[in-house]
Amino acid sequence: MKKGNINRPKLLILGGTGLVGSTLASYAQKIFDIHLTYCTNLPLSTLSSTKISLPDELSKLENLIVQYDPDVIVHTVSHPSVDWCQENRDLANFLHVNLTENIAKFASKINSTLIYLSTDWVFDGTRNNKYTENDSTNPINHYGVTKLLAEKIVLDYPQNVVLRPAVIYGWHKKSRFTNWIIDTLKEKKYVDPHVDQYATPTLVDDLALAIIKIIENKSSGLFHSTGKSCVNRFEFATQIAEIFNLDTNLIKPVTQSEKPQKAPRPNRTCLDSSKLENLINFNFHDITSGIEFIFEQSQKSNYE
Ligand SMILES: NC(=O)c1ccc[n+]([C@@H]2O[C@H](COP(=O)([O-])OP(=O)(O)OC[C@H]3O[C@@H](n4cnc5c(N)ncnc54)[C@H](OP(=O)(O)O)[C@@H]3O)[C@@H](O)[C@H]2O)c1
Repeated sequence: MKKGNINRPKLLILGGTGLVGSTLASYAQKIFDIHLTYCTNLPLSTLSSTKISLPDELSKLENLIVQYDPDVIVHTVSHPSVDWCQENRDLANFLHVNLTENIAKFASKINSTLIYLSTDWVFDGTRNNKYTENDSTNPINHYGVTKLLAEKIVLDYPQNVVLRPAVIYGWHKKSRFTNWIIDTLKEKKYVDPHVDQYATPTLVDDLALAIIKIIENKSSGLFHSTGKSCVNRFEFATQIAEIFNLDTNLIKPVTQSEKPQKAPRPNRTCLDSSKLENLINFNFHDITSGIEFIFEQSQKSNYE
């Protein structure tokens, strides 16, 4: 680390109000000098921040990168809806590909490391075993296409990092899947998660701690960064209900043909994260211990 105070490297989190960005900020603020960007939600008031709305304010973002001059940039800005990306391809291209290209250029200009958050949906989901970083990609929806293009841009620079998390969850207002299950079951209403969409869900706290270790170890390259358990959404929902003491009878499994979505979803994109775990000496939670972790947090406070 070369910039700012030698003991407190400078970290710029793009999308500092998101699930990943805000969780990373709360863990990393003890170790790094942090600056956040946000768009519609207000960030943690104790941290310095800049409101930037993209694509309109790209030059404001570029000025911020040059002026703040961070050691590391963590880029989490994306559109959360895969269906929206399928129907708004030009905007999705801009937000995921052109934006990332600009950020990567500016990061390189000031000699910063860029850490980019990609996805398991760069794969087509036709494999029965977990995918490793050596397996061939073949996205089947536009979100996956744009994230894969962004990966390639980021990895053109040897100091950069690409992480592939999946179905990120935590005790957080932006943890979409877990909140849908918990909130709906608490209202004693039915939920209908897919039984034919498998992934390795990722506890956001694990992801934040892994990012900090990657920065401290000065690691670079492409890494899968998911939890250990390969489960379908119905199994995930059932475990959430059991651990949160909610009624599992209200969970009705559906198939993709019974409940179609606008963008096609891959069937089974479970990832093997052992390359990263071995490199940084870290263990991602399995699904049971991950949900137990968020259940304990739920007993202490409302969502962050
Ligand atoms: N969540 C998942 O399950 C999941 C799974 C696999 C991969 N990923 C990837 O992981 C990364 C982080 O995901 P996340 O769940 O943390 O995302 P998120 O909660 O939706 O947060 C996105 C962040 O980007 C900002 N943002 C969104 N649109 C913007 C725009 N037009 N201009 C400026 N800022 C904008 C948001 O700001 P405001 O909140 O202030 O509006 C927020 O800080 C993304 O790259 C995503 O593709 C996520």
